[in-house]
Amino acid sequence: MAEQAPQGRLRLGVNIDHVATVRNARGSAYPDPVRAAKLAETAGADGITAHLREDRRHISDRDIERLMEELTLPLNFEMAATEEMQAIALRHKPHAVCIVPERREERTTEGGLEVAREENRLAHFIAPLADAGCRVSIFIAADPTQIEAAARIGAAVVELHTGAYCDYHAEGRFADRDAELARLWDMAAFAHSLGLEVHAGHGLTYDTVGPVAALPQVMELNIGHFLIGEAIFTGLSEAIAQMRRHMDAARAA
Ligand code: PXP
Repeated sequence: MAEQAPQGRLRLGVNIDHVATVRNARGSAYPDPVRAAKLAETAGADGITAHLREDRRHISDRDIERLMEELTLPLNFEMAATEEMQAIALRHKPHAVCIVPERREERTTEGGLEVAREENRLAHFIAPLADAGCRVSIFIAADPTQIEAAARIGAAVVELHTGAYCDYHAEGRFADRDAELARLWDMAAFAHSLGLEVHAGHGLTYDTVGPVAALPQVMELNIGHFLIGEAIFTGLSEAIAQMRRHMDAARAA
């Protein structure tokens, strides 16, 4: 049965991938993403997200080991639906796993997962992760076909892709942005009606976070690139605190 729309505080998952991107640009030991994760915790993050990509372009296997050893916040382990990643997740048993599509040539996770076309394989793929106690989330476009498929394969959570909404905003295409926001609104309610917990993320900034934070069914936002970029100017703690203020204000309104 669908749970009530959450009344409490919207959770903020801070994605630290791009601290590792900067580190890896010079092959140095710094900046350390685990240090960023600990700072995020004191600044008001409710969880840490890290994506171990197949090509290890930012987060490394050792980063995941250290996050598991050193963090007290829950880790949301983002991964592609591959056997290698499944084995790593089953070894660490993070609080949550988020299954994302991954293509080597992309700059970031560009679209949602095609759940409907791969329903059988994904159902078998996520079952051992759920059995191991991981909260399984599927990163998808705000599309009813994908949401229904995510519910059928037994996912606990869907994370709705906010990239298109944010891109339209950045391009000044405000009618398209508002249509996308309306879709996110409807699809958050639809996913919730199927008993799925609803998260959202990708591309969110201070300018775009408010209307997404206001979606009543959304329980968690995952935000990375903007926060790490903003940290250059204001520091990571202030960037996170400011994002929290935007989220909380939108939720309260
Ligand atoms: N959620 C998911 C599933 C993602 O793949 C990403 C990007 O790694 C994010 C949220 C965060 O996106 P951004 O870094 O653009 O804030």
